[in-house]
Amino acid sequence: MNTLTITQPDDWHLHLRTGSILKTVVVHSARQFKRAIVMPNLNPAISSITSALNYRNEILQALPKDSTFDPLMTLYLTNQTTVDDVKQVAACEFTYAFKLYPAGATTNSDAGVSDLIKIYPILEAMQQHHVPLLIHGEVTDETCDIFDRERIFIEKHLITLVKQFPELKIVLEHLTTKEAVQFVESSPANIGATITPQHLHFNRNAMLVGGIRPHYYCLPIIKREHHRLALVKAATSGNPKFFLGTDSAPHLSHLKENCCGCAGCYSAFAAIEFYTEIFEKEQALDKLEAFASFHGADFYGLARNKTTITLEKYNWQIPNSYGADDITIIPLKANESLSWKLK
Ligand code: NCD
Ligand code: ZN
Repeated sequence: MNTLTITQPDDWHLHLRTGSILKTVVVHSARQFKRAIVMPNLNPAISSITSALNYRNEILQALPKDSTFDPLMTLYLTNQTTVDDVKQVAACEFTYAFKLYPAGATTNSDAGVSDLIKIYPILEAMQQHHVPLLIHGEVTDETCDIFDRERIFIEKHLITLVKQFPELKIVLEHLTTKEAVQFVESSPANIGATITPQHLHFNRNAMLVGGIRPHYYCLPIIKREHHRLALVKAATSGNPKFFLGTDSAPHLSHLKENCCGCAGCYSAFAAIEFYTEIFEKEQALDKLEAFASFHGADFYGLARNKTTITLEKYNWQIPNSYGADDITIIPLKANESLSWKLK
């Protein structure tokens, strides 16, 4: 097979940032995706409807004139979020979900929730108003090993949460472990999950063997090979609970190549190509369209896209960096090759 045409995909987990970084990266997403769930972890966090709408306008301004890319906005759940905020999100045509970051879990998460019990009334309102909860599922307990943080979050918090709010739509974002895959598979249909390109392509050796490679460092951190294999199996299984979410998270190169480097992989420049390569290796190209273009829309209760994209089997080299002037963003797998290219 040398070309592949599929319904235009959506990215159900994307970091776009603001200012010059936004201008550099948004065109990459808009080339391939029709819609994207935009993460609210700016500084200050996007935690009100007003800030979400302002941010949406900034994104639209940064797009090429003819672009039809549709940013689906999310609000950052904080200890201060009110039931009224939930009602506003439910009523607004541009906002789609709340994102839960346990305080301190990742980039710009200091405003995150410190104790889940405190936000139970908010979750109750989300359940009632059909607003999905998107979760960065990691505990932040200092004594918990970084490679165990997702598994422990599921055991300690998520199982209870799902029982307490049986109707709440939950997306466990960026799965990284076989335990997370098993949890999602064995949960009811209102529990879905996104899977990133980096967690499908790499295990922790890519980050740590032969030298420390900061551009493979993201959160939740990439794990052992058997976890990667479980993720590949889930993504290519055809199970509608699993869908595309890149977690593409651009950082300036000097902030990653640093003695305390930021977490986040930049994959948006070739996101669909990264996924296609994995699906081809698994001989599951026939499952790509559903994972990339149907499952997420169905989960969120949105219409599937009508437009298509075409991919070509074609070997090309990923550039060393993206950006101009003072913006340098090192892409995932910089200087290496990919075997599919968006037409
Ligand atoms: C994200 C970022 O940089 O905003 N980083 C990451 O490693 N994935 C935050 C997040 O999604 O955890
Ligand atoms: Zn993210």
